[in-house]
Amino acid sequence: MKKTLIRGGTLVTGKEMQRNDILVSVTGEIEEVRPGIPVPKNSEVIGAEGLLLFPLLTDCHVHFREPGFEHKATMATEACAALAGGIGTVCDMPNTLPPTTTIAALADKVRRAATVEGCIIKFFFGITEAAHLQELRALWTGTTMEMKRLRQHCCGVKLYFDHSTGDQRIAGDLIEEVFRACAELKIPLVVHCEDPDVNAAAAKKTTRTDIAAHSLLRPPESEERAIQRALELAKKHTGALHIAHLSTKQGAALVRQAKRDGLQVTCEVTPHHLFLTSDDYVTLGTFVKVNPSLGTREHRDALWEALTDGTIDCIASDHAPHTLEEKKNPEPLKAPSGMPGVETMLPLLLTAAAGSWPHPVSEPAPAFRRLTYSDIVRLCFVNPNRIFPLHSEAPAKGAPLRLALIDPAARWTIAPAALRSKCGWTPYEAWRMTGAVVRILQR
Ligand code: NCD
Ligand code: ZN
Repeated sequence: MKKTLIRGGTLVTGKEMQRNDILVSVTGEIEEVRPGIPVPKNSEVIGAEGLLLFPLLTDCHVHFREPGFEHKATMATEACAALAGGIGTVCDMPNTLPPTTTIAALADKVRRAATVEGCIIKFFFGITEAAHLQELRALWTGTTMEMKRLRQHCCGVKLYFDHSTGDQRIAGDLIEEVFRACAELKIPLVVHCEDPDVNAAAAKKTTRTDIAAHSLLRPPESEERAIQRALELAKKHTGALHIAHLSTKQGAALVRQAKRDGLQVTCEVTPHHLFLTSDDYVTLGTFVKVNPSLGTREHRDALWEALTDGTIDCIASDHAPHTLEEKKNPEPLKAPSGMPGVETMLPLLLTAAAGSWPHPVSEPAPAFRRLTYSDIVRLCFVNPNRIFPLHSEAPAKGAPLRLALIDPAARWTIAPAALRSKCGWTPYEAWRMTGAVVRILQR
């Protein structure tokens, strides 16, 4: 093996961008980071002039479907998709079959993930009934080598306040117990905030069966009510709370205020809630059926504002592949909710950072939007690694080499056939990108 010198690139951190060379040891560890490192004898030189060097990013919300739904996706196929999109660490959700609600199910996933190369997969633990909370306590307090080892692969708890794909709704009377336990044991707690009562009431109010009705059946008030409830519980038990896929103006206002009030609350937003709206049902139909549902431009614009003012901590894909056949259900409201996104997230964000608005239909882009390359690293690497125990190291002396080389000026068009996700489709087909992942470097 030879030493490697990555020369002439611009290293992007969550705070700044700086021209830097990176010297990598024969064992794949970063030895030196500074401008003007002389080429060592007998080394490989990788020219990175004009390229950005990003840490391999973190996507703290994906559904890789294994085990149980391998016809939609597998850990191996989606890890490939993640890497192609510059992502090297993901947090997988518990709505598999079996669901990740027992230590045995977690151990099985950990075993499977060990065979996947290049992409680190961590797992959220799900809870729908009391027995699962017992399992969680055993996992988190166990003193055996095996429990300690498994804990390393678990990034926290995921709760669904209402049903979504995979029927993981938690029993209502158990919710507070879980908030208490997570606060006590200092376990990161993520909540999918939709309120079952608001959703049930909405279902009674409409007889529509067209796809756009999905946004009426899961209305903005549903997220608002659920976030209120989650914040109250987090406050009462003084625990950390992370809100998954923030999607509404009201939700953003609640999180902003909770942060001002000093609550330990963080949240994420998805690319689809940033780049798509309920207007897109017309052309994209069930492809954009997702929970929480897409909202109007008003909600999208509020999310960009919340991203800009620091209310939002992370961008995560909620990568939720389903097969084309499943999505083409003749009764659109019966098509499963969720869309792929792990491979297209970074390109979409690079495009926005380049100052372009990628949506192909000429519609008003959010007036108030600002996103820099450093913001992308902060939102998709620094912050998720601060919120969840993922053990990813930033590219610095002593850290393993894990970089994505980005050409910020590359122009290309998203084509489903070129994407790696097993599902074979994307809502962003034919969208024009500015910025591409040109190479992944890791040992
Ligand atoms: C997710 C899925 O398909 O697993 N679907 C979605 O619409 N986001 C489930 C979920 O997290 O809600
Ligand atoms: Zn999800």
